[in-house]
Amino acid sequence: MIEVRGLRKRFGAVEALAGIDLHVPAGTLFGLLGPDGAGKTTTLRCLAGVLAPDGGQVRVAGQDPVSPGARRRLGYVTQPPGLYGDLTVQENIVFFGRVYGLEPGVLRERIREVLDFTGLGPFAGRLADHLSGGMRQKLALACALVHEPDVLLLDEPTTGVDPLARRDFWTLLDRLRARGVAAVVSTPYQDEARRCDRLAFLWRGRLLAEGAPEEVRQLAPPGVLRLTGAPLAALRQVAAGCPSVRVAYADARGVTALGDDPERMRIEIEEGLGRAGLSAAVAPATAVLEDALIALTVAGEGA
Ligand SMILES: Nc1ncnc2c1ncn2[C@@H]1O[C@H](COP(=O)(O)OP(=O)(O)O)[C@@H](O)[C@H]1O
Ligand SMILES: [Mg+2]
Repeated sequence: MIEVRGLRKRFGAVEALAGIDLHVPAGTLFGLLGPDGAGKTTTLRCLAGVLAPDGGQVRVAGQDPVSPGARRRLGYVTQPPGLYGDLTVQENIVFFGRVYGLEPGVLRERIREVLDFTGLGPFAGRLADHLSGGMRQKLALACALVHEPDVLLLDEPTTGVDPLARRDFWTLLDRLRARGVAAVVSTPYQDEARRCDRLAFLWRGRLLAEGAPEEVRQLAPPGVLRLTGAPLAALRQVAAGCPSVRVAYADARGVTALGDDPERMRIEIEEGLGRAGLSAAVAPATAVLEDALIALTVAGEGA
């Protein structure tokens, strides 16, 4: 449903996309990962046909995304979602339905369908400004679905939404996948990334990895050690200073050290902790997706 080859886009001195290839079949949830400024939004804008690429090819449902034929098959949820706060839930959906030129009879039917699908029916008369974060995102989805697109583009649709509402939202994406929709969704959340069929990891406009979540996870280096103790900043500094450690980062799991030789890493880290007068448990761990992405980023920096 989506074919991208060699996509390039530059903003002045910034190379936002340096030649990206993507392939998204029907019935696929495709995750776009990457830190701020990686090029996720730029990619989605090019796919939506609202931004002209400098180079490369984009095909949506076999067509140029700018063509009216492709537009009718595309739904796009921007970040932040483009809703009218002083219109009700139903009025927002009506507005988007008219933009897509739906006949009144069809529109009435579609409004019922998307209200039902998103569970927003009981809130049809509420002003968009008076919705919770999670319900606003569902309304944005409802508006993007009113013309029954088979390609859906979602730019961080759940950023800032509470975890329960995020899960709810992803259940809707699962149901759309089951209907054969191809969805490209950018997200900063690892738990959401794992729910995708395929992932692309973008970094400074380059595609550093692409594949099923499990394939991407396995790109983590063989040495993954987790240090638990305190203070985390000092532990991280010790680990990062070891020659066999490629990178060390701190998060809720503690400090993670990544490298090629776990045994050498452990010895060096324990020596370093002793010299610094710190004590911490150092244990080998199974890599998570985050470990692969961080290692890829460090490798990318050296390239
Ligand atoms: N309209 C624009 N004008 C100038 N620079 C831009 C514009 N849009 C994006 N950029 C730059 O392009 C890079 C990629 O941005 P973006 O696609 O928004 O990344 P992401 O969505 O992954 O955070 C960033 O360096 C950003 O500053
Ligand atoms: Mg963005």
